[in-house]
Amino acid sequence: MNAPLENDLYLRALNREAVERTPVWVMRQAGRYLPEYKRVRAQAGNFMNLCSNPELACEVTLQPIDRFNLDAAILFSDILTIPDAMGLELAFETGEGPKFGKPIKTRADVDALPVPDPNDSLQYVMDAVSTIRRELNGRVPLIGFSGSPWTLATYMVEGGGSKDFSKVKGLLFSDPKTLHVLLEKNAQAVTHYLNAQVEAGAQALMIFDTWGGVLSPTNYQAFSLHYMQLIVDGLTRQADGRKVPVTLFTKNGGQWLDLMAKTGCDGLGVDWTMDLADARKRAGDTVALQGNLDPSVLYGSPESIRQEVKKVLHSYGDAPGHVFNLGHGIHQFVNPEHLTVMVEAVREFSTK
Ligand code: CP3
Repeated sequence: MNAPLENDLYLRALNREAVERTPVWVMRQAGRYLPEYKRVRAQAGNFMNLCSNPELACEVTLQPIDRFNLDAAILFSDILTIPDAMGLELAFETGEGPKFGKPIKTRADVDALPVPDPNDSLQYVMDAVSTIRRELNGRVPLIGFSGSPWTLATYMVEGGGSKDFSKVKGLLFSDPKTLHVLLEKNAQAVTHYLNAQVEAGAQALMIFDTWGGVLSPTNYQAFSLHYMQLIVDGLTRQADGRKVPVTLFTKNGGQWLDLMAKTGCDGLGVDWTMDLADARKRAGDTVALQGNLDPSVLYGSPESIRQEVKKVLHSYGDAPGHVFNLGHGIHQFVNPEHLTVMVEAVREFSTK
């Protein structure tokens, strides 16, 4: 049996219920800006060893909760675990981004891709979820996550990170059918994977569509949003007698918040390129909003961080349904004490 939840501000805010203060967590909150993370990462040897060791993954998940008293924990893992489990051979070289040993090159590669059973080749992720949930002991809710089918496909076809997305966009415009087959498989894999995370103890879910914003409006709908819709439709939305809220985040997707809200998700992540008041107008009143401080604000002085936090809270206003976050992941070279300043400012300025 898992302990009852002591702090459910995050879940209540996503449900657009009134809260005493605005909950706050940070994308990439466990990571290289924390010296305690770097120590455990060195102990693990490499990033995938860290992800696949439930005790160490649990330890780094809890580090930012202990240090900053954040209102939600996020599973320590990566979106690229799914393509790795499909056989693409993920590696993280030091100082470089992710690389696949066997990227997708042909239609035959796509046809041969298995949809992984999450309780088989991804069991290590489920073990991390259940370990973290147990160790959290009800302090704050645990967020499970995955990449969107499109964002996963960009890495699978490019073979790693990309600036121009020439290969995956080349495929989109030369052989869209093959890309659709790949996206359909990714959508199935993500749905099973997220449902297994809920089964293992995740209390909320987030889908990262980091690269949806590089698509044209019609292609965004056809190649990214459509597949996120399939996932939302297939997710377990209730566990332990509570709703399991789902947040969608398309970076650079501000212009599509209305379409994203129509998927039936509970929350939308907003990056810093859109004011939250405008985001609210566009998204309508059926979803909560998460965001949206520019991550670079944390390079500024404590006083400017406080002012910028105030602006974000003010742009959202007094209505319920706000989860404070950065507009994208925290940068590697940020001083962790600046994050303390941010979190304390959110507490101070949002307390009712
Ligand atoms: O937020 C958290 O604290 C939970 C853990 C988490 C990681 N990656 C850990 C990680 C989450 C939620 C992710 C998601 C992820 N991974 C995304 C979507 C979110 C986003 O940032 O847009 C993407 C696109 C990836 C793919 C990925 N993983 C890249 C491009 C990289 C290298 C980038 C870099 O900063 O070097 C990773 C590696 C990675 N994932 C690290 C961490 C802490 C750094 C690896 C290390 O410790 O060496």
